[in-house]
Amino acid sequence: MRGAKIIGTGKALPPRVVTNADLTKLMDTTEEWIVQRTGIRERRFVDPGTGAAALGTEAARAAIAAAKMEPRDIDFIVFATVSPDYFFPGCGVYVQEWLGLPTIGALDVRTQCTGFLYGLSVAEAYVKGGFFDHVLVIGAEVHSTGLDLSTAGRDVSVIFGDGAGAAVVGPAEPGDGILSSHMHAEGKYAKDLMLEAPASIEHPRLSHEMLDAGRQYPKMNGRYVFTHAVRRFPEVIREALAANGFSLEDLSIVIPHQANLRITQAVAGALGVPVEKVFSNIEKVGNTTAASIPIALDECIEQGKIRKGDLVCLAAFGSGFTWASTLIRW
Ligand code: UT7
Repeated sequence: MRGAKIIGTGKALPPRVVTNADLTKLMDTTEEWIVQRTGIRERRFVDPGTGAAALGTEAARAAIAAAKMEPRDIDFIVFATVSPDYFFPGCGVYVQEWLGLPTIGALDVRTQCTGFLYGLSVAEAYVKGGFFDHVLVIGAEVHSTGLDLSTAGRDVSVIFGDGAGAAVVGPAEPGDGILSSHMHAEGKYAKDLMLEAPASIEHPRLSHEMLDAGRQYPKMNGRYVFTHAVRRFPEVIREALAANGFSLEDLSIVIPHQANLRITQAVAGALGVPVEKVFSNIEKVGNTTAASIPIALDECIEQGKIRKGDLVCLAAFGSGFTWASTLIRW
């Protein structure tokens, strides 16, 4: 069977920078609290009119250009997001339209912070199996329009930002590129990080009462999520290494989902690797859910942190709970 590798990456960050000081004008919080508890100093918010599909399309254009390809070379789209422009259809169809592509398929993935890695595993399987030659994988979020930016929502709202990242996956020599993907889920913890409304189990799925109760905002049992994250990240990274006969010393860099700087530091500690080996850009972009890994990956490439031959591990944990890793020989 042939291999599959990432041949181009790109990102799109909305121009509007929202600092912690800006948030202090909206809610009872402080610069110190946010920096100490999360490591975040600023994030980006879109201006009205820009949705996840538009950000994702911009990131996709950059990834296709980096792969030295034309949009028409793409055979299939995978779009990961928890903040689609609309309840339906998914965002992938807009990318197909806006890139001017023929009637290729477009699949939306709904696994929250692990969405990009689940999506990448779909691309990996399609390319390795010979179904498609070039698959576009996008992670994009517009959180800012769905956050409770009052004091009542401060524990959740200060961590999230908007943005998008994308990768083009194409054929590789066997043993080169994406070595393996590892995905897990534990639905019994679904309620610990969720957004309830609109909800098709409700009649109607959105009511004034639901809005008054703030059920349209994400709710998170922060400490509980934190505890699981610091256990599952190291576990799923070790799983990827073991599956391919590698040890921690072989790893060049870990690119984790940017959930919280303290989680990233705890992961480095638990693995016993220097903190510089675990990439972080949360200070500038916040937590962008499905977009965070492809944005971070693109930055690593831009900054020359990944070289040919490096062993790179991508890892994520989040709502669901779901967690995942991807091991790549670059
Ligand atoms: O990406 C998806 C996965 N998500 C994650 O991995 C997030 C995991 N969790 C976290 O990152 C952290 O739990 C948070 C950053 C969300 C919260 O940090 P924490 O250290 O767990 O704080 P906490 O929620 O336990 O709250 C501690 C205190 C509380 O006050 P009391 O009860 O001790 O008086 C909160 O009311 O901090 C208060 N607090 C705030 N104070 C100022 C909560 N949010 C804020 C805020 N500003 N924004």
